[in-house]
Amino acid sequence: MSVTAIAAQNAADRAVAALGERLAGWSPRVALILGSGLGRLAARIVASLDIAFADVPGFPGAGVRGHSGRVVAGTLEDVPVLAFAGRWHLYEGYDPAVAALPVRVAHALGARSLFVSNAAGGIRRTLRAGDLMIVRDHINFTWRNPLAGPAALNETRFPDMSAPYDADLIAALRAAGASAGIALGEGVYAAVLGPSYETPAEIRMLERLGADAVGMSTVPEVIAARALGLRVAGVSVITNPAAGMGGEPLDHAGVLAAGERAGGDFEKVVRAFLRRAFAPPANR
Ligand code: HPA
Repeated sequence: MSVTAIAAQNAADRAVAALGERLAGWSPRVALILGSGLGRLAARIVASLDIAFADVPGFPGAGVRGHSGRVVAGTLEDVPVLAFAGRWHLYEGYDPAVAALPVRVAHALGARSLFVSNAAGGIRRTLRAGDLMIVRDHINFTWRNPLAGPAALNETRFPDMSAPYDADLIAALRAAGASAGIALGEGVYAAVLGPSYETPAEIRMLERLGADAVGMSTVPEVIAARALGLRVAGVSVITNPAAGMGGEPLDHAGVLAAGERAGGDFEKVVRAFLRRAFAPPANR
């Protein structure tokens, strides 16, 4: 394995050991990765463990003051979940294997499904700030892959990516939106490296290549999840029209604020989704 991939595997092993000890045999069914502005959902979990990334051995940023991010274990709608509020982005200089760390840790602790979320710019012209979009497929424009290097023993070397987002989970998301009375778009998420936002010419290119929304995360996690055999569902929260489509300059504070404004709808959809896809039948 490359040095960074080995370091990431060691980091995952240390985090699994530390979290596993704290969780004392409890295991999650679903891992939740909460994107920019969406972390508040973690506070709704009936938590048995709520720990800062900085306090998890092996996690990058452990010991660094001010590094945000929390891992929360507990139940949401009676479903055992392990939530990551915060992630490691490629644009911060992290290796894609580090971006995939939450997925590998959650899998080792017992999760067999992954729900990913992100803030994204809307490329498709019908998408408005505040809309939620079910991710039906993605395009990896980061040109990075968390699986590069010799294969981990429990991961498929050449994972099939013809249906990265699970059809049954997509159906559960559709039904969740309908039952919560929230219209959900559906489309293709294009992941770029960032951290600069796109130019209008780049957005026109992405549109022609089939992207409906654009963001700077998610794809490394989904690739690692497929290599481990996890079922995946994803939702993008459209925080802004992509560059050149809304006329407004883009800034991170605006993206975070729009994510937080959409937080109520996001929470309703995730709760209804968990009930439909994962809750024991008595609770549906
Ligand atoms: N581009 C890339 N990433 C983003 C955007 C965007 O317009 N909005 C939120 N994340």
